[in-house]
Amino acid sequence: MQNPFDTLISEFHEISPYDGFDSSNFEEDLQGWGSYSPVFESVIKSLQPKVIIEVGTWKGASAIHMSKLLKDNGISAVILCVDTWLGDSSHWYRTEWRSHLKLKNGFPNLYYQFLANVMKHNHDDIIIPIPQVSRSACNWFKKLELIPDVVYLDGSHDQLDVYLDCHDYWQLLGDDSIMFGDDYGGIKNQGVKLAVDKFCEELGRKPTIIENKWILTKKKL
Ligand SMILES: C[S@@+](CC[C@H](N)C(=O)[O-])C[C@H]1O[C@@H](n2cnc3c(N)ncnc32)[C@H](O)[C@@H]1O
Repeated sequence: MQNPFDTLISEFHEISPYDGFDSSNFEEDLQGWGSYSPVFESVIKSLQPKVIIEVGTWKGASAIHMSKLLKDNGISAVILCVDTWLGDSSHWYRTEWRSHLKLKNGFPNLYYQFLANVMKHNHDDIIIPIPQVSRSACNWFKKLELIPDVVYLDGSHDQLDVYLDCHDYWQLLGDDSIMFGDDYGGIKNQGVKLAVDKFCEELGRKPTIIENKWILTKKKL
């Protein structure tokens, strides 16, 4: 049986994004936030997912961590990484953060850093980049009738965007699946908490909170 990566890569890319890319021009840079939380391991071990969608990948730290967990646990799966690779507005207006974008002629070089990190860690057989805005990627997944087992939301931290990501990606999930996300609460991330709380209240559910991750399970009714 074909593994999920081989089945899906051609749906998104005519030629593998890794083909011909020279990762030797990049030093490893796995900057991330909450990218190694134990929640990843619990989710992956309990669900044994075939398809994971990550919204918000940055330089790939959390995606590479999930990919390693999949391999360590003998799970054949694919991780679809959705990101504009343009950063959040805060990476632009906080001048102390702007260097993280690795600007080249005024445009971020994050995507290539991400590709290089994935290749250096040998996860280019699991991770598929989807360079899209989250809503647009979700529409694409819907058209393909793709049903993920796990969605990890760590893209825009703007309140309305987070609410829309919750709404859009929840509809995509199959039965017995999990949606979870980063940065629930804290002074800088009130928008994430407010959006997740509003979404959960409308569902009539309470999220489980572990450290600063929020988790919602979708069970067959
Ligand atoms: C906090 S970082 C992700 C960190 C990553 N999960 C990790 O742990 O290493 C947020 C990412 O979301 C992306 N992003 C922000 N808004 C987005 C949107 N509307 N659609 C897609 N990606 C978005 C940014 O480009 C950035 O790379």
